[in-house]
Amino acid sequence: MSATIKDSVVIITGAAGAIAQALIAEMRARGAAKIYAAARDVSALAASDTIVPLKLDVTSDADTAAAASLASDVTLLINNAGVNHNTALLAAPDLSIAKEEIEINYLAPLRLTRAFAPALIKNHGSVLNILTILARVNLPIMGSYCASKAAALSLTQGLRGELAPRGVRVVGALPGAVDTRMTAGLPIPKMTPADAAREILDGYEAGEEDIYVGDMAKGLAAGLAQDHKAVEKQLASG
Ligand SMILES: NC(=O)c1ccc[n+]([C@@H]2O[C@H](COP(=O)([O-])OP(=O)(O)OC[C@H]3O[C@@H](n4cnc5c(N)ncnc54)[C@H](OP(=O)(O)O)[C@@H]3O)[C@@H](O)[C@H]2O)c1
Repeated sequence: MSATIKDSVVIITGAAGAIAQALIAEMRARGAAKIYAAARDVSALAASDTIVPLKLDVTSDADTAAAASLASDVTLLINNAGVNHNTALLAAPDLSIAKEEIEINYLAPLRLTRAFAPALIKNHGSVLNILTILARVNLPIMGSYCASKAAALSLTQGLRGELAPRGVRVVGALPGAVDTRMTAGLPIPKMTPADAAREILDGYEAGEEDIYVGDMAKGLAAGLAQDHKAVEKQLASG
């Protein structure tokens, strides 16, 4: 199973997003051989010696199958595409937000991993799922997003169990707040995408399975280990 970025062949979804762009810059600096930058709109993505833009809507079976057939040399799949409507569970007018968050944050990484599993098994590769510390405890003001990411955390554990015997490593990154458009309306301390990308890849290269990214994530993880209910109540109280 691979643990270094150097010489790896990566596909990253949601590649035009802020954390993805920072991950791509950091992976280039660490010597990635090729990066398939997959996005539903590739117009902002420039090709280069290492970057191959790829049109991929993660909700599309056809796009995913085409990407898996083209990029059979992949050694690292990064499921990064995500959506957060910052909506409480009962405040949403209907189930459309919950469905979209489950579709993109849970079903899409499952779809992508199923499609790339044969190549990852053949290439002794890895999967890196970009989760959130809020996968471990629900923040009710964005409860719908948290529930979808909790499903993605469980997905990560299940895939790890299925793929480890076949030589594929499955890793989850659990960042706290990062300064991107996803958190634009939140007046809280946030880390930069560049710092988040560095910590994610440091943890990945150190062989971690659950990478807690930033002080917020590390603090909440420590609190959860000590008193899970106290953290749940703290987040519920705003
Ligand atoms: N920001 C934070 O505080 C934070 C904290 C923890 C975890 N995360 C996670 O980090 C990941 C990246 O988020 P970010 O903060 O970098 O936000 P972002 O800049 O909004 O990036 C999200 C990306 O996902 C893409 N995406 C959404 N739906 C898609 C679809 N159907 N097909 C393909 N791509 C799709 C978006 O594409 P378009 O540009 O086309 O909309 C966008 O490029 C997400 O999984 C998020 O949940 C973020």
